[in-house]
Amino acid sequence: MALPFLFVLNGVWVMSEIDALKGELEVLQEKALASFLKAADLTALQTLRVAYLGKKGELTSVLKGVGKLAPADRPVIGQFVNATKAALAEALDAAEVLLAVKEKQQRIEAERLDVTLPGRSATRGVLHPVQQGLNEMTAIFAQMGFAIAEGPEIEDEFHNFDALNIPQEHPARAMHDTFFFESSGEQQAKLLRTHTSPVQIRTMQACIASGGKPPLAVVAPGRVYRCDYDVTHSPMFHQVEVFKVDKDVSLAHLKGVLQHFLSAYFEKEVSIRLRPHYFPFTEPSAEVDIGCVFCAGKGCRICKGSGWVEVLGSGMIHPNVLKSVGIDSEIYSGFAFGLGVERLVMLKHGIPDLRLFFENDVRFLRRMGANT
Ligand code: DAH
Repeated sequence: MALPFLFVLNGVWVMSEIDALKGELEVLQEKALASFLKAADLTALQTLRVAYLGKKGELTSVLKGVGKLAPADRPVIGQFVNATKAALAEALDAAEVLLAVKEKQQRIEAERLDVTLPGRSATRGVLHPVQQGLNEMTAIFAQMGFAIAEGPEIEDEFHNFDALNIPQEHPARAMHDTFFFESSGEQQAKLLRTHTSPVQIRTMQACIASGGKPPLAVVAPGRVYRCDYDVTHSPMFHQVEVFKVDKDVSLAHLKGVLQHFLSAYFEKEVSIRLRPHYFPFTEPSAEVDIGCVFCAGKGCRICKGSGWVEVLGSGMIHPNVLKSVGIDSEIYSGFAFGLGVERLVMLKHGIPDLRLFFENDVRFLRRMGANT
């Protein structure tokens, strides 16, 4: 600070008003510059700008003292004030630039990305083992020339029972453990289909209705429902229905198709055996067994020591079924079979419990997973 100009008044050393004001301004400037350097961020700096240079700021309050000066002194101090003001503004601008650079660097540092870090791998879903089984099975039949067809899961009694030669009061109806919908009275009762055999009726009807005629070779995969629940039964499960209608279709064709399909599905030459059975919609009917895929016919827990496991129901389509859709059973004959998808998938993969399919435990699903 420059030495103030002192003079003697009535024997006392006195500082002139103008020097006192200059001194004040110098102190203010030093204090301000020091505080600018300490400002932590741009907001703090802006507060300081207002505090020193604003209308109600410190510089303005010092200026109020100018009024007390002799008019001749005013321009002198005016210049001084302006110089101080300019110095403060310059220092503020410089500090602002420095802080802006500092804040930008901090932001860049905080947002820094380590591009060398390994990426997070995306989790891929897998097809449910039952869906995989359905796909494999339908693909084998499609390769043999069967066309894929689907039917509704909500069926009527005609397609699910009557047309399949299961009239009202037939004991087979009771065995199907059917889920019925509440009926309004006038219409036929609706139900959840208990098997995929009604797709036989629907595809044959559609063929005849559109002016077509056999040959017909169809594979119909889908969900079916029965009011049944225990270790080996689920109220919803899957079936694949297969049938062929043409002139001169015989049991030998049925056996040939079964032999090819079962060996292709199990990916090894399996032996098959047809056991006489009864189904209302086929005559003759047979249950089909395969040589146990676990013990190669020696006898184990799975085949209960017999060496054979039952895999599906089959037969030659009953003339009444052909008649119900308007196909002349004197000219045409057909074979049909229906299989439980879960059962075949369990046998192929050694899955011990049907419930694993429906519990959605991802460990099981992943182990069985294929990305196709
Ligand atoms: N629909 C039968 C069921 O669910 C399975 C079946 C047996 C289908 C014999 C057929 C067949 O086409 O010929 O129990």
